[in-house]
Amino acid sequence: MTSHWDALAARFGATADRSILSLFDEAGRAEAFSAQTGDMLFDYSKTNIDAETRAALIALLDAADVAGKRAQMFAGAPINDTEGRAVLHTALRNLDGGPVLVDGVDVMPGVLDTLTRMRSFAQDIRESEITDVVNIGIGGSDLGPAMAVDALAPYHDGPRCHFVSNVDGAHIADTLRGLDARRTLVIVASKTFTTIETMTNARTAKAWMQAHGGEPQAQFAALSTSEEKTRAFGIPAERVFGFEDWVGGRYSVWGPIGLSLMIAIGPKGFDAFLRGGQAMDRHFQAADWSENVPAMLALVGIWHAQVCGHASRAVLPYDQRLARLPDYLQQLEMESNGKGVQMDGSPVAVSSGPIVWGAAGTNGQHAFYQLIHQGTRVVPCEFMVAAEGHEAELAHHHRLLIANCLAQSEALMRGRSLDEARGKMADAGFTGDELERQAQHRVFEGNRPSTTLVYPKLDPFTLGQIVALYEHRVFVEGVVLGINSYDQWGVELGKELATSLQPVIEGSAPASTKDESTAALVGFIRRHSA
Ligand code: F6P
Repeated sequence: MTSHWDALAARFGATADRSILSLFDEAGRAEAFSAQTGDMLFDYSKTNIDAETRAALIALLDAADVAGKRAQMFAGAPINDTEGRAVLHTALRNLDGGPVLVDGVDVMPGVLDTLTRMRSFAQDIRESEITDVVNIGIGGSDLGPAMAVDALAPYHDGPRCHFVSNVDGAHIADTLRGLDARRTLVIVASKTFTTIETMTNARTAKAWMQAHGGEPQAQFAALSTSEEKTRAFGIPAERVFGFEDWVGGRYSVWGPIGLSLMIAIGPKGFDAFLRGGQAMDRHFQAADWSENVPAMLALVGIWHAQVCGHASRAVLPYDQRLARLPDYLQQLEMESNGKGVQMDGSPVAVSSGPIVWGAAGTNGQHAFYQLIHQGTRVVPCEFMVAAEGHEAELAHHHRLLIANCLAQSEALMRGRSLDEARGKMADAGFTGDELERQAQHRVFEGNRPSTTLVYPKLDPFTLGQIVALYEHRVFVEGVVLGINSYDQWGVELGKELATSLQPVIEGSAPASTKDESTAALVGFIRRHSA
């Protein structure tokens, strides 16, 4: 592996100063440096990757045996080996695929049976008096369905969906205020059914429903791997939708955790979402690496983060309904690949996954794009946009949206030279030293890399493709880095310390056991709270 990283470092050294724009001197670059699946196009031609660099990147995939690991994942091998689990969220969307064996047992009958139960429950709720659904969950039990429900707003024809995640009482108080407890369904979504935030919010919701004339016995449902804990909470078995520990929290929107989405858009729409994911699985398994959209998205990511050393990447959907996608991808990518050790416990050889951030365009343009264009750090940008919007009567808005999206990637690549800036200042009437000073502020270095994903329209199928695309990107990057993308030990220490701090905050344990800073903060808070 080391020699492959060395080869890439050498490519970086040899090409770093080259202009991306000059790569277009060779005709056909846009087509040669893009990949397509179905009617989705991934363009990475506005990066500094050429044929030689791409070959060196693809060599990483072969050296890490990504194809072999991919086969293991789809076949249900326990590739999450710090937890001894298979990684089989793909089985949840394997709608008409063959059997999937875990420890010699086909999991598909169980998956399809739960899906059938979800469909009938969702349909009943959609036809009932229920007007509002409150999903209580956090992390993967919140971000996936919350993002997808927003994304597919044009397809909503069921009850309104709300999401409560934060343990901050403000979140549940603001959400429940104004809801009719007799017409609200509460879904407690927690893989483990132990997460403190979720269980605290679930108890608060139960008390609220009891106090306002609702019937928690009849109006609560649970999504979890632990039947025993859902029973102990008082949720009848017919409203519990289970799944297995081979579905990771941040990969769980495809199964019971997606129930709120199914209720919002209906079982047919949810099926289309699953089929989109399944289509991406098939593409990922079959396409050659250079034509393979998830693999190329991963390699572009590796090139920018691990080889060029850019610490972050921005996800910039020019799609208002994907405004929560950056939040969703933060968990998917950073909880998966933000790790310092490889499978065998040794330190990762290169830097781990980058910081993922972003916002919907065009809002970001009026907030942080200044830094992206003229700041001293390079932020590789991942643009995405639909060819068509849903609002036919507002097609002129959509054309403007697309123009802005494409203009940003063009501006990042092209930049503006000092001479061009001088010309602009001269046209504006400046002369002499003042022209020179003003021109300096208007220079855009350019040569900043970006990729663009274009899809026809944000429908359930397309959303399924996009989510599965990013899941497989994480898989590929994780395998190349030698990381286990499917555990999350890094979240544990904070949880343990919060548990030990609770009695200190409540005043039943002394703050003196804590470090001086923490003890002082506790003292200040105690003095200033009722
Ligand atoms: O933050 C850690 C984590 O375990 C995530 O991986 C998970 O999505 C989230 O907590 C919620 O967990 P659960 O679904 O078990 O409540």
